[in-house]
Amino acid sequence: MSVDTVFLYHERTKHHFRRYAASLGFLDWDTQPDPFRVFDGARPIPLARALSTERFSFDDLHVPDVRSPAALDADSIADFLRHSLAISAWKAAGRTRWALRVNPSSGNLHPTEGYLVLPETAGISDRPGVYHYRSDEHALEERAVLAEWPFGPGFLVGLSSIHWREAWKYGERAFRYCQHDAGHALCALRFAAALLGWRLTLLAGWPSERIGALLGLDRGVDFPQPREREEPELLAVVTPGPPGGEPAPGVPAAGWRGRANLLSPGHVDWEVIDEVAAASRTPGFPAVPAAGRAEPSRSGRPARDAREVIRTRRSAQAFDPDATMARDAFLRILGRTLPGAHAPFDALPAPPRIHLALFVHGVRDVAPGIYLLPRDPGTLPRLRAALRDDFRFAPVASDPPLLLLREGDVRDLARTLSCMQDIAGDSFFSLGMLADFEGPIRAEGGGAYRRLFQEAGLVGQVLYLEAEAEGVRGTGIGCYFDDPVHEVLGLSGRQFQSLYHFTVGAPVEDSRLTTLPAYGPGPRRA
Ligand SMILES: Cc1cc2nc3c(=O)[nH]c(=O)nc-3n(C[C@H](O)[C@H](O)[C@H](O)COP(=O)(O)O)c2cc1C
Repeated sequence: MSVDTVFLYHERTKHHFRRYAASLGFLDWDTQPDPFRVFDGARPIPLARALSTERFSFDDLHVPDVRSPAALDADSIADFLRHSLAISAWKAAGRTRWALRVNPSSGNLHPTEGYLVLPETAGISDRPGVYHYRSDEHALEERAVLAEWPFGPGFLVGLSSIHWREAWKYGERAFRYCQHDAGHALCALRFAAALLGWRLTLLAGWPSERIGALLGLDRGVDFPQPREREEPELLAVVTPGPPGGEPAPGVPAAGWRGRANLLSPGHVDWEVIDEVAAASRTPGFPAVPAAGRAEPSRSGRPARDAREVIRTRRSAQAFDPDATMARDAFLRILGRTLPGAHAPFDALPAPPRIHLALFVHGVRDVAPGIYLLPRDPGTLPRLRAALRDDFRFAPVASDPPLLLLREGDVRDLARTLSCMQDIAGDSFFSLGMLADFEGPIRAEGGGAYRRLFQEAGLVGQVLYLEAEAEGVRGTGIGCYFDDPVHEVLGLSGRQFQSLYHFTVGAPVEDSRLTTLPAYGPGPRRA
């Protein structure tokens, strides 16, 4: 399968001013997918719902080895999942209720499913096994018992995507959003591991096919509805200390139990999603250790409890356009997006390829305008050559290395480029994530397409949590007009492409919504 399939998919799923990427164009409520996957017949293992009382400073999430590693048992697994893939709250408006999760998702559709591959673990099983995580119940489902444990210290965590859940609403562009969501979830898992003193590293060398076999995703017999199959996305190893060698991609013998529930009574086929999924499966990547400084700069803001920040993260739906942010806080947030040999960037063994083009609206002592934050200084010369030649590239700060491109009021521009969404213009700042695009995909194959979106999702999750820690709020923006963004920046061709947008501001709460506890008394199902 050639990388041209990937490039063609990317082109045809761009939003244009006069034409959005193909979708049904309306929401078919009769076929709305169930947001919760269940494997009927798999042994359920409820996890403790009581929250850990340990306090962990949010800013320490980025600092390596702050606490001694927790023992691997049912309680630490419960804490790990509660702060990565669990439900965080229920929202209600009138008679309608829906669940929010620790990990965000485009359209709250949650295509990402989580799996653990555990050795014998106290309180879970006296044998190694493969488990699916049920976020609606905060429980594991034992999918398989393994004949042996060939993977060394720690355990494995895997993610898959159910494309149909996302395509139900977004049609052809949905594959991109599944990748963003996987990147957000990877980042959420990395920070949850840090809470427990664990490392989490992507097993880059594992081919997609082997990940699917290990997690049981290739078992047609267990997925009676082929349109609701799960696509293997990634596998990571969670270790008490620095990871040893990468466990070889062997798949141990297993006895399987459970059949996937039916999510929808009807489906629409989006063939280009199947095509790009096939073209972006990977035979594995060589691992590149995380580079950059080992310790991020200290934040200087009041300490917040990390678990609380993680569980209370939300997307803003509207911002106060008159509010402003201090320059220090702005630079602090941007500084935290810079890669380094620490969480969450040590999870992704690849060079940083996402750079930020910022639209600054309301930051005190920073002139409104367009800015650039190259996340890898080595890419700056190519960015400079590719961007408009009348941009100034004037240094505004050295840490992080922020450059002013052009001064001016860009609220309307940002709103227009982000599908006319007010949240992009009413904020303190919004941004586009510019990926070093064509080169890596040509050099590394179609799998790099997924990794670029996943890196963008990972940076998005950092921004969400940073906003929360500053007492403000962020929102991921998957709807933007691709080529108009490139034109504003002077980009032509495919060398750099904007893959995700994000916005941070002072949230205006919707007083019509009520909030219910994640796992308290109350509804479990949407
Ligand atoms: C990849 C991605 C794209 C998103 N795109 C948009 C968007 O274009 N507009 C918007 O208002 N919200 C967007 N969101 C926010 C989601 O709607 C939100 O995450 C979801 O409703 C769950 O709510 P929560 O983040 O408060 O948990 C996006 C989120 C993600 C992760």
